[in-house]
Amino acid sequence: MTPQDRHALLLAHTSLRRPDIVPEVELHLVDDIVALWKVTGEDDPPPFWAVAWLGGQALARYVLDHPEQVRGRRVLDLGSGSGLVAIAATLAGAAHVLAADIDPFCSTAIEVNARANGVDVEVTLEDLLEREPPAVDVVLAGDVWYEQSMAERATAWLVRSPASVLLGDPGRTYLPRDGWVELAAYDVPTTRDLEGVESKRVRVFSPAPR
Ligand SMILES: C[S@@+](CC[C@H](N)C(=O)[O-])C[C@H]1O[C@@H](n2cnc3c(N)ncnc32)[C@H](O)[C@@H]1O
Repeated sequence: MTPQDRHALLLAHTSLRRPDIVPEVELHLVDDIVALWKVTGEDDPPPFWAVAWLGGQALARYVLDHPEQVRGRRVLDLGSGSGLVAIAATLAGAAHVLAADIDPFCSTAIEVNARANGVDVEVTLEDLLEREPPAVDVVLAGDVWYEQSMAERATAWLVRSPASVLLGDPGRTYLPRDGWVELAAYDVPTTRDLEGVESKRVRVFSPAPR
């Protein structure tokens, strides 16, 4: 699929919406991710880029409410999906934001969504977990502990990162239970189709001092 095909598909199957707890940001989102996955191809990854995941919403809310965490700093949004957290960091005054995701569809979504919000976000499709953490001041990671191998790689990599780290997570299976300090918690509305409940308590953490 070409970038033009991805762009056309995104526009045809999503609508601009404001995530429940992050009304400052507009994103191209979908109601039924399973139906969209049939369109994008079930041999490909799910269209993570078409949903504002719970962990990302909590982290974006936190960054917007605590702009001093990113203001004037170089920020990496790891596992950016739609670009929600990257866009929030830009709106909060980050000097430069790099959004990293390995799915080419996310690159399309992040660029389209950044434009919709009038902000600039650099995008990389490189798997940054394969190399040393880049020279950034802050790493943000929203909802990346849903799959074992990604979670283990991300955790080991974040522990090595000299940057400040903030993560948002709704209690996914593979987030290590220990080693974090809770900074904030939000009740985030969701749907039974997506998460099996109507609302989830979602937490923002930083690594515990070592
Ligand atoms: C559940 S989504 C979360 C997206 C977004 N942060 C949010 O909260 O809405 C997880 C994202 O991690 C991405 N991902 C998986 N492995 C990755 C890797 N090694 N490096 C960067 N992103 C990765 C997936 O493609 C997906 O977009």
